[in-house]
Amino acid sequence: MDSIRIQGGVALQGKVRIQGSKNAALPILAAALLAEGQSVLENCPRIADVYAMISLLKDLGCSVNWQGKGLCIDASGLCCREMGSEAVRGMRSSLCLLGALVGRCGQVVMEHPGGCVIGQRPIDLHLEALGQMGVVFSEEDGRLLASADRLRGARILLPFPSVGATENVILAAVLAEGETLLEGAAKEPEIGALCRYLKACGAQITGEGTGQICIRGGRSLKGTEFFVPADRIVAGTYLFACVGAGGSVLLEEAPWQEMEAVLRTAEDMGAKVWASREGVYVQAPARPGAVECICTAPYPGFPTDLQSVALAVAAAADGDTLIRETIFEDRFRVAEELGRMGARLEVQGPESVLARGVEHLKGARVEARELRGGAALAVAGLMARGETTVTQCKYIERGYENLCRDFRELGARVTSA
Ligand code: EPZ
Repeated sequence: MDSIRIQGGVALQGKVRIQGSKNAALPILAAALLAEGQSVLENCPRIADVYAMISLLKDLGCSVNWQGKGLCIDASGLCCREMGSEAVRGMRSSLCLLGALVGRCGQVVMEHPGGCVIGQRPIDLHLEALGQMGVVFSEEDGRLLASADRLRGARILLPFPSVGATENVILAAVLAEGETLLEGAAKEPEIGALCRYLKACGAQITGEGTGQICIRGGRSLKGTEFFVPADRIVAGTYLFACVGAGGSVLLEEAPWQEMEAVLRTAEDMGAKVWASREGVYVQAPARPGAVECICTAPYPGFPTDLQSVALAVAAAADGDTLIRETIFEDRFRVAEELGRMGARLEVQGPESVLARGVEHLKGARVEARELRGGAALAVAGLMARGETTVTQCKYIERGYENLCRDFRELGARVTSA
């Protein structure tokens, strides 16, 4: 699917099932390296980033294959400590293999997982934290070498609740000698899912979801079966698609308990939302209302991964909305493409953009440049009058199993080209 074509202006109706979480599945795939025997991940999303992680694990000697509803991983054949450069450079989440591989093999060689269009994506917090556990780092012609004779538990304070650094410490700590106390840890639900998987394998972890996580290392882990929770960012994407395009939909299995800030913002925009056992019902307003300020923050704040989608909806709201991005330093690239659809967005620096709501966006040919900006352009296409073509949809496929299929299930007029 290189591009998608959308006939906008159609209110959404019906229901759609929310896929498994990308950002839960990826660290759990890395964690499977630490368990003896086979793990089976049910509800693992079939997305490009998972396929990339699967080929990385296979390159390392693991056996990974889809069986029925699940993805089976057996790391007993792990033999390689070097991660291929294109896979690492292309996918930041390969970084969470660092902690697992050092824990399992004592050594890793990998390309520096460089930045992308949303920011530099440094790894200093990862290196600093793992260094306190006895990992020694060196560089060799642009590649990162990490080694540790024996990982040891440590008391670590993260100056920023980095999701990836929290995951790397947990993955290194479960096999380390002694206890690790991680303070300033990220509280994202994906950390909770990772810890639930590891505890099902036999790990001793407490405090996940709070800022302080304690991991007692040194226990051997056994593979297990695990159900990957629904993706709160995909659910939020479809929720805002309805708020912007109109209509009423049911987001089946949406993890509403993890979406408080998102649901509240949708209500501030005039939508009616209510949660039930089935998921989240959304009833859109005639036109989205402006919100004084939408500010991203670490969980449980408004998620940075939904900032671009909220911006697309705010672009056609009844008034002005200030959007503030506090997590990444370059996450307003999509504003330029939304401008081609008639949005009036005043980027006021790396941290904020003012959306001056227009009556209607108009269809245009626009280009996705990264995952969530691409999703935002598709949502804008649903809202716009006329036809929108979104190109470079390979970025969207990194995190959404089948955006076209899901939007069509909600009554949208969407075709992939
Ligand atoms: C995870 O990225 C997610 N990716 C991101 O989702 C998400 O946006 C992000 O967390 C924040 O919630 C996965 O889970 C695979 P961070 P991660 O470390 O771990 C800075 C998506 O669209 N930082 O919490 O890379 C960093 O530059 C993706 O699904 C350092 O300075 O995020 C950023 O400004 C995009 N030094 C901030 O912290 C470090 O060593 C947050 O980064 C690490 C991070």
